[in-house]
Amino acid sequence: MQNIEDIVARALAEFSAAAEPSALENAKAGYLGKTGELTALLKTLGKLAPEDRKAAGAAINVAKEKLEAALDARRAALADAKMQARLAEEALDVSLPGRGRGHGGIHPVIRTWERVEAIYRSIGFDVADGPEIETDWHNFTSLNNPENHPARSMQDTFYVDGKDSSGLQLLLRTHTSPMQVRYARMHKPPIKVIAPGRTYRVDSDATHSPMFHQVEGLWIDEHISFADLKGVYTNFLRRFFETDALQVRFRPSYFPFTEPSAEIDMQFAEGPFKGRWLEISGSGQVHPTVVRNFGLDPERYIGFAFGSGLERLTMLRYGIDDLRLFFDGDLRFLKQF
Ligand code: FA5
Ligand code: MG
Repeated sequence: MQNIEDIVARALAEFSAAAEPSALENAKAGYLGKTGELTALLKTLGKLAPEDRKAAGAAINVAKEKLEAALDARRAALADAKMQARLAEEALDVSLPGRGRGHGGIHPVIRTWERVEAIYRSIGFDVADGPEIETDWHNFTSLNNPENHPARSMQDTFYVDGKDSSGLQLLLRTHTSPMQVRYARMHKPPIKVIAPGRTYRVDSDATHSPMFHQVEGLWIDEHISFADLKGVYTNFLRRFFETDALQVRFRPSYFPFTEPSAEIDMQFAEGPFKGRWLEISGSGQVHPTVVRNFGLDPERYIGFAFGSGLERLTMLRYGIDDLRLFFDGDLRFLKQF
């Protein structure tokens, strides 16, 4: 049967030429499918003389088995090639050096906090820490800010449900000033301390955040005057901003816990804020009522306090105009420090 050998030869050539499983299955259909050439040959068996039929049938079966074996081998080869290609594509070079770890950084506001501490420590100030959940008494009343006094509305407060063990109303401290009272009641004069930390107010815009940082300063002795405040604070600003080219002025203001009270303003002689007066801190001579709440005699002890925003100091140092950048956690911003 010349015809069978010819069919087998062509089929084998087509199978091995098929580069894709789909091409291989199409080639298979051309020979072994319902209308395939070999199938057609099988259908002609009935027309043969009975004595020829057996030999022809056997020859067709041999051819069929040969093609099926070739088909299986080609299928396996294509699957194997596909797997090899995928392995090559996903290859991992385990001998490459690592990419290295990401480095953490210090947040710009915390950098300011640390600078402030270092500067005040260097001139003999202690550094104190206190609770962020504060009693109404420490945050307001002890600071000469009695209940129902309108000055309380200067600071919009987050109140906390529940009271402390002595039945005092709790709140999130609106400033670091309660630390004046806490520290002074536990230390003997001279009292010379700063208290940096987190503070909270119902505030939110480009220059006000519900959580922010302040640093409180307090110096109490028998003869500490406004002149000392001016000297200490001006020296602090010049060291903090690393320039002597700045002016400081005290503008009369009001706080219940100081008398007289002043806002401290500063003006750079150079840089992006050149020539503008910028408010930097509240301050004043500690009110006699507050000195009494320290447990001290206001006829004998006198001194000053200030409270400055750490975000504000940071914004001025780096020329940042939106406070919210500090709290977004955007690495493109944070990596610049
Ligand atoms: C006070 O909080 C007084 N305790 C300061 C003080 C202390 C006066 C001791 C006298 C003696 P004031 O409300 O102005 O004052 O806040 C002080 C500073 O905190 C502001 O100048 C500002 O820099 C910062 N600050 C206040 N509210 C916010 C806020 N919501 N977001 C960011 N910073 C704020
Ligand atoms: Mg103010």
